[in-house]
Amino acid sequence: ISPAMIRNFSIIAHIDHGKSTLADRILEFTGAITEREKQEQFLDNMDLERERGITIKLQSVRLRYQAKDGQVYLLNLIDTPGHVDFSYEVSRSLQACEGALLVVDAAQGVEAQTLANFYLAWENELEILPVINKIDLPNAEPERVRKEIEDIIGWDASEAVLASAKAGIGMEDILEQIVKHIPPPSGKVEDPLRALIFDSLYDPYKGVIIYMRVVDGTLRKGMKIELMATGKVYEVTEIGVLTPHPVAVSELSVGEVGFVVANIKNVKDSRVGDTITDADRPAQEPLPGYRPITPMVFCGIYPVDSSQYEDLREALEKLELNDASLSYEPETSTALGFGFRCGFLGLLHMEIIQERIEREFQIPLITTAPSVIYHVYQTDGSKIEIENPTLMPAQQKIERVEEPYIKATMMAPNEYVGSIMEICQNKRGQYVDMEYMEGNRVNLIYRLPLAEIVYDFFDQLKSSTKGYASFDYELIGYQPSDLVKMDILLNGEVVDAFSFIVHRDRAYHRGKKLAAKLRKLIPRQMFEVPIQAVIGNKVVARETIRAMRKNVLAKCYGGDITRKRKLLEKQKEGKKRMKSVGSVEVPQEAFMAILQMD
Ligand code: GTP
Repeated sequence: ISPAMIRNFSIIAHIDHGKSTLADRILEFTGAITEREKQEQFLDNMDLERERGITIKLQSVRLRYQAKDGQVYLLNLIDTPGHVDFSYEVSRSLQACEGALLVVDAAQGVEAQTLANFYLAWENELEILPVINKIDLPNAEPERVRKEIEDIIGWDASEAVLASAKAGIGMEDILEQIVKHIPPPSGKVEDPLRALIFDSLYDPYKGVIIYMRVVDGTLRKGMKIELMATGKVYEVTEIGVLTPHPVAVSELSVGEVGFVVANIKNVKDSRVGDTITDADRPAQEPLPGYRPITPMVFCGIYPVDSSQYEDLREALEKLELNDASLSYEPETSTALGFGFRCGFLGLLHMEIIQERIEREFQIPLITTAPSVIYHVYQTDGSKIEIENPTLMPAQQKIERVEEPYIKATMMAPNEYVGSIMEICQNKRGQYVDMEYMEGNRVNLIYRLPLAEIVYDFFDQLKSSTKGYASFDYELIGYQPSDLVKMDILLNGEVVDAFSFIVHRDRAYHRGKKLAAKLRKLIPRQMFEVPIQAVIGNKVVARETIRAMRKNVLAKCYGGDITRKRKLLEKQKEGKKRMKSVGSVEVPQEAFMAILQMD
């Protein structure tokens, strides 16, 4: 296949603007899927993804399209995940393309993620083709949206296709624009092989399946390949393309997109962004931009029922096979028993993993508040890294503590600048820069402690800007902070799962709030339970859960037995998500209470 006949593209959009529907319609229009398959959305295949409306795993589909010029083109549609936690993956998958369809809802217009995704595509120097979708809606205003694309994004939309993915309108125009405007791949066939990995997943029969795009040279079956980040060498046993069904091929050359199987046992060895080269004739340089993905957010994950500890380990092992950015190690908590400390890319990633464990593996969980990695410099001159607040040494042993900072870029309409700044100030942010952009928009840059972002930053940002603010962040390094460990005592005993690290200035406020919240969340017990928030041995807040007045069963004495049994069952049900901490029954929500605290 001549590269001149290949077009590689992605679809980018704000959530719900119709990315998946459009992808399906394009597949259908080019004959890649049948009537029956059409029922299902082809590109998002995990239940969870569909329910949450986000795409986590990237995939690609090869399509044949006979254009109006009479030529047959090979189009590769590369799917991208759409959330900030996965922005590195989005960026890498966009790098496998020369162009992107920017889908904008004809009724909603340009929204936060439209802009954020536009910038990612633009930074990757893609040809961006606007598509105004859902023109079938009664409240569609395609001309207003066309103007918004020009005013807010500053991108020419005069040729934007007016489409309805639902009604199948505009598909041919979109394909014609792809063929006409997106440049063909420009790699060198004679150069040593360089292929960009933009996704990999684990298959129980074949091992790791790598999704990649050949940039230079040719990849052949039987060839020895080297993954440049690790230097490991493998023999290629299978190459193929997705049409969307897997079809084996004997080689893939410049500009082609497909999958490779090479007896790789672990997705961690085939990192997104890494370069595949020919082991016998290696490329001088890997493709630019590779960055190892490191977990940024940590939390403890415990089975509600301690007997499910081994099941939980198995679940994590299975999830890890497919998720190079998930990490975990065993951990014990006096309050929660045996569990794991897990590392995630961000909060969404954390939530997804928790949900999958509960849903796919049916293990009810208790999770502790998320934390970041602190660098603790001790008075004896040593330095330790702490990702679990309970491991923080005593105050007198600490010389200083440093915490990770991020550079946050937030984009929003002008009128929200005040509220965003207020949130950032509350989160100990340092103002860096502000830039007014076209279309009444502002780009705000702040330096913020990552630890503050892992609490409810997103929620606050979204709710105070009506969902309009976009947010992106990058880690910029460690800075010293005046941090202290806050412990929570229930009935006089430290509950390690409640401990957290907080800035001294906020400690009092947080301690007081958390104690008050716990008083409401923990049900009354048979006895009085004091709740104390302490730093070192100084109590900063105290609340009391009063004793239960009457035994619930008392009502039933003498009454009929079935009612009594029902009541007991109901209690048992309620207890499922309770954990006995010492002698106190604590509900699951209490462990997450720390998350919403400002
Ligand atoms: P995420 O996967 O959540 O990012 O969403 P998406 O951008 O993939 O959107 P999706 O294709 O799931 O569409 C979102 C909703 O819009 C669905 O209910 C679709 O049926 C609907 N939709 C998509 N295209 C059209 C269209 O052209 N017209 C109308 N009326 N509805 C559409």
